[in-house]
Amino acid sequence: MIDHGTIQQILDAAEIADVVGDFVTLKRRGTSMIGLCPFHNEKTPSFNVSQAKGIYKCFGCGKGGSSVNFIMEHEHLSYADALRWLANKYHIQIREKEENPEDVKERNDRESQLIVSEFAQKFFNDQLWETNPGRLIGLSYLRQRGMRDDIIRKFGIGYCPEGKDHMTTAALKEGFKMEFLEKTGLTIKRDEWIRDRFAGRMMFPIHGISGRVIGFGGRTLSQDKTIAKYLNSPESDIYHKSRVLYGIFQAKRSIIQEDKCYLVEGYTDVTSLHQSGIENVVASSGTSLTIDQIRLIRRFTNNVTIIYDGDQAGIKASMRGIDMVLEEGINVKVLPLPEGEDPDSFSRSMSATQLAEYIRANETDFIKFKTKLLLAGVENDPISRAKLITDIVSSISVIPAEIVRSEYLKECSRLLDVRESVLYNEIRKLKVKSEDEMIKQQERDLVRDASVKKQPPMPLSMPEVNPCENEERELLKLLIKYGSHKIYEVENPATGEPDPVFVAGYILAELEADQMESVNPAIKAVLDEYRNHEDDENFDAIKYFVNHPDLQISQLVSDILSEKNKLSEFWRKRGSFIEEEHEILHQLVPKAVQECKLRYISWLIAQAEQGIRKASEDNDDEGIQEFQKRYQKLKTVEGLLCGHLGKRTITS
Ligand code: CTP
Ligand code: MN
Repeated sequence: MIDHGTIQQILDAAEIADVVGDFVTLKRRGTSMIGLCPFHNEKTPSFNVSQAKGIYKCFGCGKGGSSVNFIMEHEHLSYADALRWLANKYHIQIREKEENPEDVKERNDRESQLIVSEFAQKFFNDQLWETNPGRLIGLSYLRQRGMRDDIIRKFGIGYCPEGKDHMTTAALKEGFKMEFLEKTGLTIKRDEWIRDRFAGRMMFPIHGISGRVIGFGGRTLSQDKTIAKYLNSPESDIYHKSRVLYGIFQAKRSIIQEDKCYLVEGYTDVTSLHQSGIENVVASSGTSLTIDQIRLIRRFTNNVTIIYDGDQAGIKASMRGIDMVLEEGINVKVLPLPEGEDPDSFSRSMSATQLAEYIRANETDFIKFKTKLLLAGVENDPISRAKLITDIVSSISVIPAEIVRSEYLKECSRLLDVRESVLYNEIRKLKVKSEDEMIKQQERDLVRDASVKKQPPMPLSMPEVNPCENEERELLKLLIKYGSHKIYEVENPATGEPDPVFVAGYILAELEADQMESVNPAIKAVLDEYRNHEDDENFDAIKYFVNHPDLQISQLVSDILSEKNKLSEFWRKRGSFIEEEHEILHQLVPKAVQECKLRYISWLIAQAEQGIRKASEDNDDEGIQEFQKRYQKLKTVEGLLCGHLGKRTITS
């Protein structure tokens, strides 16, 4: 853990233009600097750096953030590792945070487990290459399978000799403690005996993202079907199966270069594809794909092609995988293999060129894959067809990006020969279903609470898009830029002294009074965290949020800070002389708050109107009354708000 003072020192030193300048040629343009974006291909520069704000922003691809974010993004590092990278650049000595004895023990434990795993890997390796049993049994097995020596070495594959405890004995002799051999699962210890977990198996070391050995997969050489083909390291402090992808260390560079990742099932699928020149490949090895594994891939690319075995189980597994990958906003393709083949056997049956050609010709967009597969056999059965449509549409509905979703719907409509509007209707039905429970809860809240002022009626359904996005962003901008500025003073009734009202206090209190919360989680988080720091002296909101470890937050805030001043433009045009934003905060801030509330209320009103229409279609008199009551209440509030703003409501 890096000590807080060191982090400050790093942030102070890491001047944005200097950090970015290592990777991008910047030219001064007005108040900012501009260059070619390193995150997407472009010929005319749209990558901006603002030294004053300490942020970068690409108006082409939308990426933006602080110097730390830049290094995270560019070098694919975690927040802490990006800080270390910068510390190194600026020759800043990192002070680690004071650790309590428990922390120290935990760190030492982990380190000991890593070291003993590294020892075991070397041991298995030496056995394979340097001993007779290793060469005769292990190495010849691998070569017989067609594995080249350079690939064996690249993946550090080894052999654990037959026998009770060769590895354990060697480790103990080297001074490694039994405790860590046991914790990593290399040794199994019972009261009366100890033995090597992996005796007689081919050893595939599993590397973490930075290349350290964290676990093993051991393949039996026996044909005996009652013996597990693969035995894996158990969960430990260093090995978490669900967060690891086999081959990620060997693949990461190529994944970035190709901007694409192949996903396969097994250890040998990975090694064989490498042998055929395809290095951007990882395996979920043994588990069904997890969210953490998908997020690991997403650190490097947004494009995944799933290659699973050409049997029923493989197809099923890839179906399961697909929805989860889609949900994370990743573009998915599928490469179907002929029946009975896995990527390992398939790639060995042809030359590297042939394989590349096969992939090019057969890689299918997921929607086509799923549709074709499911369509086979149900063409003339209307009920199965309907089920199929729901099934495919439900896959499409989890895709976060609207544009991608609508592209898929177009495609699907063409393939299934169904009108797009029918598919949209399906999606809507699915959404209604999943939101059913939420709506019921909201309705209960609504009945319980009669006062609009205290708690505005909850919407009929959660909005898909944030109805107040622009207004909330404007508010956040004022909050972050001017939070500690005074807007006016009020007389304290107790002391008679004037009490200052600050921008932050005003905005946060106003939102709280009306229990307004953003549906955008990043905006909500900024407001919550600001609230926690409101009373901190010297709280530097810009620095705090721009350098926030949560990329979504830092990105949002740097986005907001790079936006043009819409509101102040408006005031500027009206004034006969130009006023600076910070001089008219007493006008800007209340206006921004009211605009936000007004937008929210009009959205609620639209919801209520929709409710009335729906209820009257259903001849639901009670419903009509309920919604009309709500509508009236909201209109009153709207009227009040408009009064504030000097607008008039148009009543018909
Ligand atoms: N697996 C496992 N435990 C098992 C069987 C399989 O962990 N008992 C995992 C392994 O990571 C394996 C993957 O699932 O690589 C796929 O299994 P399978 O297709 O049976 O093995 P292959 O990778 O084809 O292995 P081989 O070519 O050596 O037979
Ligand atoms: Mn196989």
